[in-house]
Amino acid sequence: MTEADEAQWPAPVTFPQRGADKEALLAELVANRHDDADWRAGRVFSLVYHPDSPELEETLAAVSREYLAENALNPFRFPSLARLERETADMVADLLHGPPGAGGLTSGGTESILVAVYVARDLARERGNSEPVLVTGLTAHPAFAKACHLLGVEQVRVAVGPDHRIDVAQLSQALDERTMMVVASAPNYPFGVIDPVEQIAALAAERGVLCHVDACLGGLLLPFWERLGEPVPLWDFRVPGVTSISADIHKYGYSFKGASVLLHRDPDGYRRQWWFDDGAWGGGIYGSPTPAGTRPAPPIAGAWAALRFLGADGYLDLARVLRDTRDLLLRGIEQIDGIRVTAQPDLSIFEVGSDELDISAVGDALVEAGWYPDRQPGGLHFMLSPFHAKVAPDFLTALAAAVAAVRGGRTSDGATATYGSTGPSGAQA
Ligand SMILES: Cc1ncc(COP(=O)(O)O)c(C=O)c1O
Repeated sequence: MTEADEAQWPAPVTFPQRGADKEALLAELVANRHDDADWRAGRVFSLVYHPDSPELEETLAAVSREYLAENALNPFRFPSLARLERETADMVADLLHGPPGAGGLTSGGTESILVAVYVARDLARERGNSEPVLVTGLTAHPAFAKACHLLGVEQVRVAVGPDHRIDVAQLSQALDERTMMVVASAPNYPFGVIDPVEQIAALAAERGVLCHVDACLGGLLLPFWERLGEPVPLWDFRVPGVTSISADIHKYGYSFKGASVLLHRDPDGYRRQWWFDDGAWGGGIYGSPTPAGTRPAPPIAGAWAALRFLGADGYLDLARVLRDTRDLLLRGIEQIDGIRVTAQPDLSIFEVGSDELDISAVGDALVEAGWYPDRQPGGLHFMLSPFHAKVAPDFLTALAAAVAAVRGGRTSDGATATYGSTGPSGAQA
């Protein structure tokens, strides 16, 4: 740790000797948030999916309160939670044309991906493939690298084309007898474009390997995008070779954090998720379908409630708002000389870059004006939420002003392309 880091590090805190007054405690909690990003104002473009629905927020808060203490670890003690989990997974399976009873909830996209890779490894080992390989595109989410690292699986990353979608010819060359699973993203995070799932899944089926679609971002949005008449290539269980899908309810499903669904085409995939203790422990039978032991109940109940509260009608309305906001922003960005959207996005996630200006300096000028895009090597990253409809015109004005400032000589503050970074220090990951 450098001296500068040490200076920023908070002073050590000791264990409280006496309990605190509720009001004082809450006041302290709120005061402590002074330097958090103000996502409610719609000036943040990542991390929070803001549906702009006070009624939904109230409902989710009430649902959480209902389940503050319960533990989803034991489905026999709290069968209501097992039912909610099963119903939630089945509702999403129905939306994505998958079979019922072949999936469950996890704490988020990363955990769904970890478990999908675990299941694939299990099957590979059973088939005598002791050194299995996972093949992904370069744009696959880092959760796959993390899963491979934790599970001792090798990851091979293949190139993407100029459109940022997996290059299927390169993918084909990368597959061999060690391949256990290929991954397609719907869409990928950096550019918001969908990989050619039909071709990838056909290739996987031909070679007898699994095909996982990472729809953590798009799983709860793409079905409604399609109903809006937007061009959405087939990507879900309607594609024959797709064997599993991850879809996050805490993203465009608009529940609070801690909820993703992992679905399998074959119910055997879900059975393989279940790990059981060998009985030597002495505490009785112990089994779980995810790495966690104790599992918080609110995210399960919240995910169920968000799907039921919004229903297809509600999700379609929100998708329409998002689509219109995206189109307005894309048109507006096109009018600003010197910057461009680097790839026409399939959804409401895109990158803005520049061939002539220092895009990092544009980002700094935006931050200075109180707008917080993410940064990545090719430019600025934007993930839209329905709430951005309200601020889109203001944002375009701010973006044009930021570009003008850079044209006028404003230079970069030296921010690094750190995921989630908002300012020069790149500290807020
Ligand atoms: C495409 C994609 N996959 C997986 C993940 C991981 O999800 P989580 O952050 O919920 O673990 C993300 C997160 O943004 C994502 O965009």
